[in-house]
This record gives sequence, C-alpha cells and structure tokens, in this order.
Amino acid sequence: MHSPEAAELYALRERLLPVEDPDGRFAAAAQGIFLEALDVAAGKAGLTVEVQNEFPPLGVDADERPLVARLRLGQRNGPARFAAALLHRRRTSRLPFDGRPVDEATLGQLCAIAAEFGHEASFTSDPALVDWVVSLNADTVFYDLDEDDRRTEIGLWTHLSERAALAQGDGFSPRGLGFPAPVVRLFFHRHQLFRPGPVRALARRLYLRSTRGTATVGWIAGSWGTPVECLTAGRMLLSFWLALTAHGLYIQPFGSVITSPTAHARLTERLRIREAEREVWLLLRIGSGPEPPRSPRRPLTEIVA
Ligand SMILES: Cc1cc2nc3c(=O)[nH]c(=O)nc-3n(C[C@H](O)[C@H](O)[C@H](O)COP(=O)(O)O)c2cc1C
Repeated sequence: MHSPEAAELYALRERLLPVEDPDGRFAAAAQGIFLEALDVAAGKAGLTVEVQNEFPPLGVDADERPLVARLRLGQRNGPARFAAALLHRRRTSRLPFDGRPVDEATLGQLCAIAAEFGHEASFTSDPALVDWVVSLNADTVFYDLDEDDRRTEIGLWTHLSERAALAQGDGFSPRGLGFPAPVVRLFFHRHQLFRPGPVRALARRLYLRSTRGTATVGWIAGSWGTPVECLTAGRMLLSFWLALTAHGLYIQPFGSVITSPTAHARLTERLRIREAEREVWLLLRIGSGPEPPRSPRRPLTEIVA
C-alpha cells in the first residue's frame, strides 16, 4: 500500500497454477473477481476503485512477483449495485442441494448480467441433462487423478487437515470439500488404490453423493482468450455470484470439466456448442441448501504490506 488511497496489486508465482492454467487465463479472471470485489467493498464508503491493469504473464512464464495493477480510491458517482454484505455471504457449496430447481426469473436476471459483459449464460433444469453434467464432473475427477502433473498440482492446494488449510490460507479444506481427511489423503497420495474398476466405481458413487439434490446446472460462454477478456469475464462472474447470493443461492463451479480436454470435448458435444467464437469457460451447478463452511483464507494483515 502506498497511502490510504493508493496501492499496488502483486501476484505470487507460488500461488499460480501452471499446469491447470498454463496461459494464466483463470488467474486473469481471478484478478477481475478480486478487483470487482474491492470495488463493491469500497462502495460501502461511497468510494470506487480506479484500476490501471498491467497484464503481466500469469501462467507458466510468470515472474516471481509480477505487478498486476495499480489501484486508487476515488469518489463514486451513484450508489453501488451490490451491498458489501453480500461479499460475506457469497460461498462455493460442495454440499448436497435441496432438490429445488432455480426459478426462471432469477435465471433470467443472471443471463442479463452475463449479457451486460458480452457473455452468454445458459441453464437447464432438465433432470436428464442435469444428471449427465453432474456425472461428467464426477468422471472428470478421475481423469485428473490419472494425470500425474494435474493430480500433483491439485493435491498441493487440497489440504489434508483443517489446520493445514488454515495455515496455508488457500485451496480446499476437508470440511469445505465435505469429505473426511483420510479419504482425501488416500485419493491424492495413494491414487494407485483407485485404479481397479470396482474401487473407482465405489469412489465415484461416494463423490456423487456430494452433489445430490442438484436440480439446475448452467454454463457461461464468451470471449476467453486475451487477458483483457478473461479479466472482464472475472468481473462479470463476481456480479453474477453476488446477484445469486442475494437470492439465497450457492454455486459450485465444475472447473475441471473446463480444463480437462477430454471432459471439455464431451461437454461441448453433448450441449452441441461450436466454440469458434464463444468459448465455454465456466460450468456450474446452482441451488439452495445448507450454508457451506467458509473457506480458510489468509488474513488481511498477511496480504497487505
Ligand atoms: C473459474 C473458477 C473455477 C472453479 N472451479 C472449481 C471446481 O472445479 N471445484 C470446486 O470445488 N470449486 C471450484 N471453484 C470455486 C473455488 O474453489 C472457490 O470459489 C474459491 O476457493 C473461493 O472459495 P469460497 O467460494 O468458498 O469463498 C472455482 C472458482 C472459479 C472462480
């Protein structure tokens, strides 16, 4: 931080994902999510965050500690669109949902938000298609498990105890995943056990239990190539996420289906999407249910210097 009004935003290479995100597209989207969240928070004080983005490489060729953006607080013209309190309520849910499909009016509002940013959100509550998408996500867990580099990278941020998750302040905790720590440990560190078909079928059934009650799924397509496009997609996603939070809804992105080439090809074939102009960059389930636990994240004092 330079002063109470000005700050610089840096990325840390050790927290980037060179295997899952070699071009840094998801990192650019995360930057957009973060900047939009800062702006919503500033709105509470009648302020806005003015941003000058630097767009350094954030994929395999990222520097150690690249400068990502210069930020300055300014006066806001007009009220903020979203209440800052929604930032605290927004969660990812990896718990079962209650089986109720999301109503059309809410889905229409979410489509409108995506369209404002030039993206196209689509949803289905058709039980057969919902089940197919949820099963594809379960299959993808095993595609990732079979690839050494992906499994290793995901294993780095899938923590084996609540204490490790708190200390590291990133990724998944066993509680957030909804699985007992010993199962998570076996999965990532004794993955050979999951090779035989019957064991795999059992593990898949267990995993599918965590997405029970899903009645609506959605996907978002749009320009997803340059850092500017990915940053815009991230800004959109935060607005989309806060809007659905205001309706008491949660989402779980199925990120691996997007990043696994095998799963991605199955998805676009089933949904009959031709990706020449618009890439599908997000797949998610959306619904209501029990409040998910908060993800352990680094305290403010550790991220502001
Ligand atoms: C583009 C994107 C893809 C994601 N993919 C997954 C995923 O595949 N599985 C999952 O459980 N969470 C996924 N997430 C959710 C994040 O892990 C989660 O939102 C993040 O850790 C913040 O935690 P919180 O939402 O609990 O605060 C994804 C999030 C984003 C923005």
